[in-house]
Amino acid sequence: MNSKTSILHVIGVFAFLLAGVTGALVCLHAQAQNAGRRPSNVEIATFPSAWTYRPGTPAPSAQNAMVASNCALATKAGVEILRAGGNAVDAAVAVGFALAVAYPEAGNLGGGGYAVLRMADGREAALDYRETAPAGAAPKMYIGRDGKPTDQSLVGHRASGVPGSVAGLLALLDKYGSMNRAQVMAPAIRLARDGVTVDAILRTSIAENADLIKRFAGAALFLPGGQPPAVGAHLVQADLAATLGQIAAHGSDGFYRGEVADAIAREMQRGGGILTARDLASYQPVWRDPLKGSYRGYGLLSMPPSSSGGVTVIETLNILETYKDVPAWNSALGLHRLASAFQRAFVDRNTSLGDPAFTKMPIQRMTGKAYAQSLRASLSDARAAATSTLKAIGSEGTQTTNYCVVDRNGNAVGVTTTINSLYGSGVWIPGAGVFMNNQMDDFTVQPGTPNQFGLVQGEANGIVPGKRMLSAMAPTIVLDSAGKVWMIVGGRGGPRIITAVVQAIVNAIDYRMPLADAVGAPRIHDQALPDVLEYEKDGVPADVIRALEAKGWKTRPGGTGSLTAIKRTIAGSKPAWEGLFDPRKHGLAAGY
Ligand code: DON
Repeated sequence: MNSKTSILHVIGVFAFLLAGVTGALVCLHAQAQNAGRRPSNVEIATFPSAWTYRPGTPAPSAQNAMVASNCALATKAGVEILRAGGNAVDAAVAVGFALAVAYPEAGNLGGGGYAVLRMADGREAALDYRETAPAGAAPKMYIGRDGKPTDQSLVGHRASGVPGSVAGLLALLDKYGSMNRAQVMAPAIRLARDGVTVDAILRTSIAENADLIKRFAGAALFLPGGQPPAVGAHLVQADLAATLGQIAAHGSDGFYRGEVADAIAREMQRGGGILTARDLASYQPVWRDPLKGSYRGYGLLSMPPSSSGGVTVIETLNILETYKDVPAWNSALGLHRLASAFQRAFVDRNTSLGDPAFTKMPIQRMTGKAYAQSLRASLSDARAAATSTLKAIGSEGTQTTNYCVVDRNGNAVGVTTTINSLYGSGVWIPGAGVFMNNQMDDFTVQPGTPNQFGLVQGEANGIVPGKRMLSAMAPTIVLDSAGKVWMIVGGRGGPRIITAVVQAIVNAIDYRMPLADAVGAPRIHDQALPDVLEYEKDGVPADVIRALEAKGWKTRPGGTGSLTAIKRTIAGSKPAWEGLFDPRKHGLAAGY
């Protein structure tokens, strides 16, 4: 144990060794409740000395209820609703609308998302409000005359799927909320109408994406005089305020029909897009059963297809669970097993998953323990396998944001929403004030050709009108052995969402890390293709990288997802929750 070992971790060892002796220390008590099902050989994790984040930093905590998001103003909107007596769903909807105003790089009305929720009375649900391919879409629409993919799935008017966010947020509110539209939308309408003060985070985000924004109509608002607004400037979004007003007054029809829909259809037609008023009028979100799994005695509720997130998270965790011993954290053996599990799960994901309305998928098998056992039989602790040698299960027959909310009654919601890349396709709708998504790029534009995340995907995710493009978003709720909400976690980063969510869960369960460490710890990433194991710079010691290479891994430094998360502290005690945004990005976790 070196001097970098956090005090929390040290105390953690004693709490664990003296199982049953509970102290005032948060998280350890709750963790001990489940310790029986966990491997007993765990060594205490220490972060590499060069790693940016120090272990042991406490996460913000709250007595009753908590919101964690990538945007301080959106988190505050959620807390305002919770304090006013709203439940977690009311607050999640308020956060969603507020993100659309105050976090334009990813918060949106012009995109889509997924929500997983667990109500305190035991009801569980998942809502799929992913975009759909417009009726005018075609499988080869993004292949140029030279036979190569164009950039039209990413930039400009042809890149957008039919947005699902408004229908999704309103469906959540209708079914599980307790407040009315006007109440939960009030903070967002205020932020758009009265304006937000531009801070360094917003200015930087706009500046870094100025080349995209300036090509379309949003330039006048977001790049006044050709420059990003100065820190301290006042940003009023009058068109967006009017759109939000229409939605508050008329519900879904305020967006999918009438003035707003006409404005979207008009701009799409003007710019050569394919999305029509009819596409908007036919959009429907889909309620689904959350995908269920378990990991070492903890329950998992996650997002089923059309997102691959839940299936891939659960398949990976099932493979890891087949090992009864847990190698030292960040050791060559631990990372080798983790990367091997990711690699196997991503081979299946990339090949077999798609929109369930169009693709038959072996989801039960993929998320079953028996399948994990059969995969495990082919894994060697000594050697990595080349992705090209692995067979998928086979079918039978940059921008996003996550937020988590829990209320005083223990209702919990995890939401991930996106317009795909930062500022989506770049197209901004005059009169509606909305950035449009470039989610069409998540389809398999051309089998065998990597998309913007390097994902090489198959026919199961081909473009068909009305179909949802496969996602990696993975809002996930972890339940303790008593079935109570223990952790809510999700993130941004395309396929890196999946690997980040898994590592946060493994860190919290296997390595007993407090929330801030479970999220702040360095991560690896493997998505089968490209066939390379990526690690965060300074996150893995050089000798461990050498040992991984000796096992046959190609390695290189790379990025990871960024998470938001909430976790229960000591069962039955106050404060009840700790919450966190990933230190790799911005945000706020707060509650009351
Ligand atoms: O649905 C997906 O998997 C992607 N469109 C998510 C994009 C994303 O996370 C970008 N953020 N960094």
